[in-house]
Amino acid sequence: MFINKLRILNFRNILDKDFKFEKKVNIFYGENGVGKTSILEAINYISSGKSFRKGNYKDFINYESNDFTIYLGYNKDDLENSISVRKDKKGQWKAKKNNTNISQQSTLTESLPVISIDPEVYRLVDSSPQYRRSFIDWLVFHVKHDYLLLWKKTHKCIKQLNTLYKLRGNTNEIETWEQMLVSCTEKLNQVRNHYFLQISPIITNIVREILPGLDGIVLIYKRGWTEGLSFIQQLEKDREKNLKYGQLLNGPHKMDIKITINHTDASKVLSRGQKKMLSIVFYLSYLKVLEFNQIFPILCLDDFDAEIDENKLQTTSEYFKSYQSQIFITSVHKEKIVKAFPNADLFHVKHS
Ligand SMILES: Nc1ncnc2c1ncn2[C@@H]1O[C@H](COP(=O)(O)OP(=O)(O)OP(=O)(O)O)[C@@H](O)[C@H]1O
Ligand SMILES: [Mg+2]
Repeated sequence: MFINKLRILNFRNILDKDFKFEKKVNIFYGENGVGKTSILEAINYISSGKSFRKGNYKDFINYESNDFTIYLGYNKDDLENSISVRKDKKGQWKAKKNNTNISQQSTLTESLPVISIDPEVYRLVDSSPQYRRSFIDWLVFHVKHDYLLLWKKTHKCIKQLNTLYKLRGNTNEIETWEQMLVSCTEKLNQVRNHYFLQISPIITNIVREILPGLDGIVLIYKRGWTEGLSFIQQLEKDREKNLKYGQLLNGPHKMDIKITINHTDASKVLSRGQKKMLSIVFYLSYLKVLEFNQIFPILCLDDFDAEIDENKLQTTSEYFKSYQSQIFITSVHKEKIVKAFPNADLFHVKHS
């Protein structure tokens, strides 16, 4: 997969910018606030319908405009494709792929997988389980597109149960939804665990290669309920508590990956730079799993060199370069980033 054209209209501070890409690695450099991250955000938006930053689509629309539009041309399996997406202030979303209307975001996500690594990536190690859960969920989704349906069905059951618990609803109804949730959870847990088992040894191997101080790392898959209990048993055990608190306390929505270094919680002992590096290793491994499955997403690396020393930047860049994926990078430090990615095409972004 290779993006060769990009045009961005009225997106953040970008009124109208046109790019042609010929190389695997592309670097956007320039002063603070010129719109480098916004370019990656636009690419990312096409794929995910979201930003990797805080805020929602209304924040994307240029202050002076009522909508934004992004056009993108890409080559996949030697075929030229085009995507356009427009979103207005009222929330109306219009998308086309190869001039045919698209009705669902997931069609674009499948067509153009994008992985974005931003300066907040360290949160994968540092913050709540939600980050690690979504890491595994996206990984599964990128490989098995029908996972989204299962994921949505599971969350619909949880939402329904939360309402019923809160209202102390009809017992038969609760049991019916619990049974549906059990059936979804079994499948969801199996597929999550399968991909965790694929990615986990890759992560520990890369850590050993590039982060020698962290080689005591252990990753444990936590499915979201007590070890030794089936999910049905857990639901029975929790029934009173679920009703008391008006929500499902244990289940697939609590899945996590426990990360320890020499038996201690990694978030408590690692420096911020180490957390960032470890999180990047998670993504390097993610890309490896996708490559095994013949999926070559576009990579967006925002402010990639921030907080990484030159040696580590060099080693990680070697990994990224060894993958087939096309890469878009932003940086304020032109020399530092070009040293790590010497064959890149450079785009100087300036205030318009
Ligand atoms: N909806 C909007 N309309 C107009 N301008 C906006 C909008 N949202 C954000 N901006 C401005 O767009 C500019 C571009 O921000 P962006 O984060 O892309 O810059 P950057 O080049 O990545 O900067 P840095 O080097 O600090 O990361 C900022 O000056 C920001 O204030
Ligand atoms: Mg930026």
